[in-house]
Amino acid sequence: MTANARFPVPPGVASKAHINATSYEELYRLSVESPEKFWDKQARSLIQWRSLWRKVVSWDFAQANVQWFVGGKLNVSENCLDRHLLHRGDNVAIIWEGNDPQDVRRITYRELHREVCRTATLLKKYGVGRGDRVAIYLPMIPEAAICMLACARIGAIHTVVFAGFSAESLRDRINDCGCKLLITANEGVRGPKTIPLKETSDEAVAACPTIKNILVVRRTDTPCSMTPGRDISYEEELAALGDEYDTAVESMDSEDPLFILYTSGSTGKPKGVLHTTGGYLLHVTATHKYIFDIKEDDIFFCGADVGWITGHSYVVYGPLSNGATTVMFESIPTYPDAGRYWDVVERHKVTIFYTAPTAIRALVKEGDHHVKRYDRSSLRILGTVGEPINADAWLWYHDIVGEGRCPIVDTWWQTETGGVLISPLPGATETKPGSATRPFFGVQPVVVDEGGTVLDGNGVTGRLCIKYPWPGMMRTVYGDHQRFVQTYFSMYPGLYFTGDGCRRDEDGYYWITGRVDDVLNVAGHRLGTAEVESAIVRSGVVAEAAVVGIPHDVKGQGIGAFCVLRDDAGEGIDLVERVVRSVREVISPIATPDALWFVSGLPKTRSGKIMRRILRKIGEGEYAAVGDTTTLAEPSVVEEIVEVVKRSRDV
Ligand code: PRX
Repeated sequence: MTANARFPVPPGVASKAHINATSYEELYRLSVESPEKFWDKQARSLIQWRSLWRKVVSWDFAQANVQWFVGGKLNVSENCLDRHLLHRGDNVAIIWEGNDPQDVRRITYRELHREVCRTATLLKKYGVGRGDRVAIYLPMIPEAAICMLACARIGAIHTVVFAGFSAESLRDRINDCGCKLLITANEGVRGPKTIPLKETSDEAVAACPTIKNILVVRRTDTPCSMTPGRDISYEEELAALGDEYDTAVESMDSEDPLFILYTSGSTGKPKGVLHTTGGYLLHVTATHKYIFDIKEDDIFFCGADVGWITGHSYVVYGPLSNGATTVMFESIPTYPDAGRYWDVVERHKVTIFYTAPTAIRALVKEGDHHVKRYDRSSLRILGTVGEPINADAWLWYHDIVGEGRCPIVDTWWQTETGGVLISPLPGATETKPGSATRPFFGVQPVVVDEGGTVLDGNGVTGRLCIKYPWPGMMRTVYGDHQRFVQTYFSMYPGLYFTGDGCRRDEDGYYWITGRVDDVLNVAGHRLGTAEVESAIVRSGVVAEAAVVGIPHDVKGQGIGAFCVLRDDAGEGIDLVERVVRSVREVISPIATPDALWFVSGLPKTRSGKIMRRILRKIGEGEYAAVGDTTTLAEPSVVEEIVEVVKRSRDV
């Protein structure tokens, strides 16, 4: 089968799907010709409102002001829980698959509602209320979802921090948005490792003046230190509460903040992406329903961690709003062995499976036998997210995992977009391996060239922008609206700039080619080159660093770091260790460089700007293609760098 293959909608899928090819075309046309009419209807049918809106959308890209369902009132937790109690109260909301495959919890909607109400009561007892920020630094345990929903219930704004981030990263996030409370666990377990979450939290909070309390969930029996007056045991508090809990919900404005999630940009520190209530909930509910073709008895398994946007939108909010059963997976795909995902699929009869290309590539290497020894007949739809998927990985996913039966939805979106913007619909869209295919309803992509000229028609390559707001889009960078304007709306006035390059092929299909800015996508994790460079310099042995993405067969992109040592750095392998340790401590192990090259200088223009283009080419192994170096202050450094890199690759 060639990489240019096309995969028609499998027979039988279209007739049963919510959307088929004809209805997609009709609805898409309506959604862009009359967006207000389209979204008004979706909002009425998919979401439960406490009161309706005055205006569907109000927007001004120049000022980066966007509002959806202006004046509408609702509560996200009520939508995800209370509204299902009457007809689906005893359906399973969450299947929790622990790190140990024997460790499984099934939580019905009724039980989840109770736990969320109890937790909300507890939060209120400790002074958390509407508009307060709460940091959640938890592993993939049901309490993570429970705490998110409890915040939403009382109008508090959560900021989930991935439990693999360092104390410093946690501290910066807490301080940036001034969290009042931190929720963590004594420790986390992931594969063969334990993660000392409480210890890291203590270290972080030592420099967080706004934190009043730490709520500690007990995940394991390992004791942890508890500071009297500050630290609270979640289990003890809940036991004391018993059934004396409050079921009240805050009536939130459609534009009230729901959460802040930090993500890396091309400059500076990670920014707090702010999402609001009505538009976000509608967007994740609609995309989850139509893109995964959700039906009442589906078992939906998204392998993402709640520390990322995919976990927010498609482990927690989208599935629960739709009243589906969502699988929460605490472990990693290779524990206890590389068959784990398929073991989960077989045991829980998963019908829809959603993961990242990096995980697929890692599993391809482990061999087909790990897949084939499990029964995957329950699967009907497969999805990918987070980075471009190469045709080989796509075909393996399709042929081996999906036995050639299951449509693949390659979903393109971002932390900023809240939910998916470009993706096939399983019953409607013929797929091509590696293409995210067509826009979701209401999404109006445009391709522009570097100068900002809109490239009309098909068969064009450029940068991806969006010209009309969608309900789930971020509303601001927390505490820095100017950065929001600057990053997304100033490059191409009148358009939202995604930061991605793309091609629209002859059939109008979108192919995302990756970031065109200084953002890296390492194993589906987003990192800014500036962030990593600053962590490298913090090691104390490096005077200056330049980081570029390098090809990596599993991670998609790896991190290549060119470092100029300080004069007083000394010598030896200890230097590498110090740099690596610094990156892990300042950011997280996910930012560990894959290649470190010590060089005597970096290629710079005469005005002192680092020429990353050259370093990127060298990192890619295209030594002869570095292009024009005559504008460099010292062209000779390029030869030296090429030598260093070549030598490192020969060994
Ligand atoms: O470059 C695109 C890539 O991931 C970036 C967004 O990263 P993040 O905010 O961490 O969100 C990831 C999960 C939604 C995008 O700018 N990306 C995401 N999905 C795809 C993708 N690239 C190609 N194909 C995709 N399906």
